[in-house]
Amino acid sequence: MINFLDSPDIQAQQLLALFCQTDWAGDRSLDDTQRMLAHTDVAISAWDGPRLVGFGRVLTDFIYRASIWDVIVDRAYQDRDIGKEIIQRILKHPKLERVELFWLCTRRYQGFYASLGFSDKEQTGMVWNRRKQIPPLTE
Ligand SMILES: CC(C)(COP(=O)(O)OP(=O)(O)OC[C@H]1O[C@@H](n2cnc3c(N)ncnc32)[C@H](O)[C@@H]1OP(=O)(O)O)[C@@H](O)C(=O)NCCC(=O)NCCS
Repeated sequence: MINFLDSPDIQAQQLLALFCQTDWAGDRSLDDTQRMLAHTDVAISAWDGPRLVGFGRVLTDFIYRASIWDVIVDRAYQDRDIGKEIIQRILKHPKLERVELFWLCTRRYQGFYASLGFSDKEQTGMVWNRRKQIPPLTE
C-alpha cells in the first residue's frame, strides 16, 4: 500500500535517488536539496513502507499564486495513479485552498496535467536561466 505524507521533512538523500532518474534534476547536490526542502511551502510525498516513491512540492504566497515543482514518481511505480494523487493532494491542500492560480512547467507531460484540469492555453511562460547567461552574472 502506498502512503502519502504532507511534510517537507524528508531525507534529501532519498529525494536525490528520485531526482537522479530524471534529466532535469540528476545533478542536484545533497546540500542544495536540503536547502530547497527547508524553503518549500508544501511538499507531498508517496511512500512504499520506508521507500520514497513519489514527490511534488509547491512554492506559494498562499493567496494569488502557487507554482508546482519537481513532480516525480519512481520509474518502478509509475502508472499506478501516484502522480495523480500527489497533484490532487496539492490542489486540495487546506493551506492552498485560497490560491487563485497554480502554475507549473512541463516539457513532456502535458497529457498527464491536462487530465488533471491544467490548461496550456491561458499563460505563456518565460524563463531566466542563470547557467545560460553570457557573460555569466557574477558579483
Ligand atoms: C509525470 C509523472 C509524475 C506521472 O506520474 P504517474 O504516477 O506515472 O502517473 P499516474 O499513474 O498518476 O497517471 C494519472 C493519469 O495520467 C495519465 N498519464 C500519465 N502519464 C501521461 C503522459 N505522459 N501523457 C498523457 N497521460 C499521462 C495516466 O494514463 C492516468 O490517466 P487515467 O487516470 O485516465 O488512467 C511520472 O510519469 C514521472 O515521474 N515522470 C518522470 C519525472 C518527470 O519528468 N516529471 C516531470 C513532471 S513536469
